[in-house]
Amino acid sequence: MARTAIVTGGTRGIGAAISMALKAAGHQVAATYAGNDEKANAFKQETGIAVYKWDVGSYDACAEGIAKVEAEIGPVDILVNNAGITRDAMFHKMTPQQWQEVINTNLSGLFNMTRPVWDGMRSRSFGRIINISSINGQKGQAGQANYSAAKAGDIGFTRALAQEGAKKGITVNAICPGYINTEMMATISEDVMQKHILPQIPVGRLGEADEIARCVVFLASDDASFITGSTLSANGGQYMG
Ligand code: CAA
Repeated sequence: MARTAIVTGGTRGIGAAISMALKAAGHQVAATYAGNDEKANAFKQETGIAVYKWDVGSYDACAEGIAKVEAEIGPVDILVNNAGITRDAMFHKMTPQQWQEVINTNLSGLFNMTRPVWDGMRSRSFGRIINISSINGQKGQAGQANYSAAKAGDIGFTRALAQEGAKKGITVNAICPGYINTEMMATISEDVMQKHILPQIPVGRLGEADEIARCVVFLASDDASFITGSTLSANGGQYMG
């Protein structure tokens, strides 16, 4: 069944693959982005997917943006909380700003986006919330105390909300990607990649964004209605928690 979906951070990286896969599955998609107008406009031209600009770190911006999407496209049935940033630093060098920026986008962003769609999903007795967490929220990662904390928080949020949504036809699940071949990887030096990351991935390669997008399409489908509160790991065998 065709539904309306919002994908945050939906114009680049994993989010772009998710937006395109949901569209290919027949859904109407709104992709949000925070800053890169050029990339977002190119994405819109190439895919025909509507793009909206706001900061998921701001509750008011989310409430306003979602109201606009609902007026232009329709009530939101599928929310994919994908937007995320890194500000990696060893903890002895991490600044309060690096901590706060990551918590605000990667954790508070889930509250800010989910709260405004929740009442509508409850009243329509259907909803799919899919939170893109991370392998590093499961296992922790040196250089990412901020990111690991936020992504672990995303899993707790998922499990609590799944219990609340269950009786109202709303499923809430998390996906934990491993290391995926996107621009985010460019922040990792070749040395760290070769020495510390690739040797830990049993399948011997980075994942592809499409491999995460396919998980989202499944969890968003009517077929997945008995799956809620789960954490789906897609990490090439790097962590089996
Ligand atoms: N495990 C163990 N040791 C590590 C390590 C790791 N993953 N990464 C770095 N180290 C070691 C280094 O080898 C180095 O040790 P030596 O001094 O003995 O050589 C020491 O820690 C300091 O590392 P750097 O020299 O790299 O320190 P830096 O201050 O220049 O950089 C850093 C710090 C930015 C955190 C850098 O180490 C880094 O980028 N690490 C990778 C962090 C990472 O995995 N980020 C994931 C990004 S992708 C993502 O977030 C998506 C997702 O969900 C998976």
